[in-house]
Amino acid sequence: MIMAFGLSVCTISVWSKTHSALLKARGMLRFSLPSSVVNFSCGSSLDEKSKKVSPFTSGKPPHMPVMVKEVLHYIDIQPGQVVLDMTFGGGGHTKAILNMAHDVTVLALDRDPTAISLAQQLAKEHCDRVKPLLGRFSELEALLSNMNVKPGSIDAVLLDAGCSSMQLDEADRGFSLSKDGPLDMRMDGERYPDMPCAADVVNTLDQQALASILVAYGEERHARKIASAIVEARRINPITRTQQLASVVAGSFPPGVVYARKDRLQRPAHVATKTFQALRIFVNDELNELHTGLCATRTALKPGGRLCVITFHSLEDRLVKRFLNGEDLSNLDQYHFSPRTKGTKKKKLSDENTDCKNLHWVHLRRKVITPEKDEVKNNPRGRSGKLRVAL
Ligand SMILES: C[S@@+](CC[C@H](N)C(=O)[O-])C[C@H]1O[C@@H](n2cnc3c(N)ncnc32)[C@H](O)[C@@H]1O
Repeated sequence: MIMAFGLSVCTISVWSKTHSALLKARGMLRFSLPSSVVNFSCGSSLDEKSKKVSPFTSGKPPHMPVMVKEVLHYIDIQPGQVVLDMTFGGGGHTKAILNMAHDVTVLALDRDPTAISLAQQLAKEHCDRVKPLLGRFSELEALLSNMNVKPGSIDAVLLDAGCSSMQLDEADRGFSLSKDGPLDMRMDGERYPDMPCAADVVNTLDQQALASILVAYGEERHARKIASAIVEARRINPITRTQQLASVVAGSFPPGVVYARKDRLQRPAHVATKTFQALRIFVNDELNELHTGLCATRTALKPGGRLCVITFHSLEDRLVKRFLNGEDLSNLDQYHFSPRTKGTKKKKLSDENTDCKNLHWVHLRRKVITPEKDEVKNNPRGRSGKLRVAL
């Protein structure tokens, strides 16, 4: 089931319509996809993929980790501690943690098999101080239990949400607007061959469901116009490539505005950027995963254990902020995930009315931490990173 997080621009009635459309969208995908659609549209076969040169052997770092100095400061690892890196990615944060103190063990989770193969390499280099775990946040409790890691035994957790550069830069993964590739976007790669990819979403869902996804996960003001263009275009040919989708979206705007939007560094951003973000979040069920992951950290951490969470867009940051503030996120509605309107009260956790009982986070710093200017200059992709830290 999908839950609609972050519907910041909607009124309650529009939101409930959008919410039911999203629920319907997830259901429609589940029940309407012949496996041939999935196989047809998601690009290279496993065989083709495994023949490709690994990004880790090419010499350059596969992903530049964000706010390493700040993470190391707040995570404050001591010799002999056990750390859970929920998002191993290219292993940049894990490597920094391993170098921080003696005998630290890192449990390295990632849903992407490509990331886990790097974790396995690192485990060999560090005499098994790295324990790779292939899976999603929602699978973490089972994975830890299989390893006999007891609840309440982890000293610190790092969760660096979103996509890695290995995913974004590899045209074949289908995340990239600028590099043509199959419209895939599944972080799990081929782990779940029946899981719908982005091409399945754009070629299968009805116009209203598509518009709801663009509103909910892209905060896209022109969602209806874009959804209509997608439905028109796919009548002629299925949309199976990233640049094909980018052109369809661009074609629904006057030519002069294709790069009229600006990113945080005031650089021109393609008008399909939000569409790509929305599809990626939907395909990977990212916000539900994030919420489940945060709840899992509560179970995994020792009392007094440290949690560092980095997010890259406002939907995620809002969720993390409210989770750490102890709000009850178990019943999702607009009240929880849109910016509060004046006069509405914060809902606090109550012991009876929540799945997060007895949880009390202490903020190590109440204000969100963002990368320093110099870091953004060297790593523009990290520009929208937001770090929140709690005990
Ligand atoms: C921003 S990258 C992490 C980069 C990493 N900190 C580094 O230093 O290289 C995010 C990673 O989290 C993984 N990821 C995202 N959502 C996940 C989930 N629900 N479960 C497990 N891994 C997830 C992605 O596959 C990706 O590799």
